Amino acid sequence: MNAKLHEAFQQHFLIGAAVNPRTIQAQRELLAYHFNSITAENEMKFERVHPTEDQYTFDAADQLVAFAKSNGMGVRGHTLVWHNQTSPWMFTNEDGSTVDRDTLLARMKSHIETVVSRYKGEIYAWDVVNEAVSDNGDELLRPSKWLDIIGEDFIAKAFEYAHAADPDALLFYNDYNESNPVKREKIYTLVKSLLDKGVPIHGIGLQAHWSLYHPAIDEIREAIERYASLGVKLHITELDVSVFQHEDRRTDLVAPTEEMLALQAERYKQFFQVLKEYSEHITSVTFWGAADDYTWLDGFPVRGRKNWPFLFDTAHQPKQSYWNVLEVAGS
Ligand code: GLA
Repeated sequence: MNAKLHEAFQQHFLIGAAVNPRTIQAQRELLAYHFNSITAENEMKFERVHPTEDQYTFDAADQLVAFAKSNGMGVRGHTLVWHNQTSPWMFTNEDGSTVDRDTLLARMKSHIETVVSRYKGEIYAWDVVNEAVSDNGDELLRPSKWLDIIGEDFIAKAFEYAHAADPDALLFYNDYNESNPVKREKIYTLVKSLLDKGVPIHGIGLQAHWSLYHPAIDEIREAIERYASLGVKLHITELDVSVFQHEDRRTDLVAPTEEMLALQAERYKQFFQVLKEYSEHITSVTFWGAADDYTWLDGFPVRGRKNWPFLFDTAHQPKQSYWNVLEVAGS
């Protein structure tokens, strides 16, 4: 039997996977064997659990939490406040006009209280606010309805409400392009300002949607050091390693090339060397999936194109990447 990933890294961090109701069936054995943490890929997002004001739909999320429980795994909650996948009713009055600040704050509070309380004690960390920082120029916060209607303290409020609902859950700010030096400084500035105000935030989630070519390992290291200097915990929350360059539009491949697999294995080795080196700060490393038979990168951003971003292949067999990561654990 191959070594279990989560056991190999038990001195360092949890090993997680994003799952959904289909993958907890299709990848059940692989998940139970190698992983000791899960994140709901979509099933705890606003629009999924709270489609209309008076209706909460927790069936799918409950299934995932039950799966985790029956396999002794932890759960990361994802996500409470985001500009995407949030039901439109949240921002509008019955007559179609936009709600005012107090109404939106009251709705946010009620949503957070309901969702966080439901899984109190079962979720060790929540991505409270996802992707609020802008990718553009000097702009700090991304334009969104949350920002428009509430103002920039929507972020602090979300953390306060989440902390009140479950004082034991670790609360994270989560974002992508987290290793880009410009965005990194914005994320740092945002989190520092929250800490300075005494907002209950405990960590930064580095999504880590990386590729064979990007980001440079030094940028990853610098990002980890910069964030860690705030004294918060770090989680790698959505790790995957696309085999395509961002600009690459090719759609002809039906399997990864040997060269891609070799490069990917080398990249995974470097990533895990750095993650292990900083494991004093990094307490959880979650892949955004588990094996190459299912990834959100299939068809995104190039339609009809498959991707192979994980340590396990489409048949759940270990790739060279897995062996390299394991070697890092033992070194
Ligand atoms: C972002 C979100 C995730 C997921 C991915 C794409 O990273 O945080 O929830 O939607 O995009 O799958």
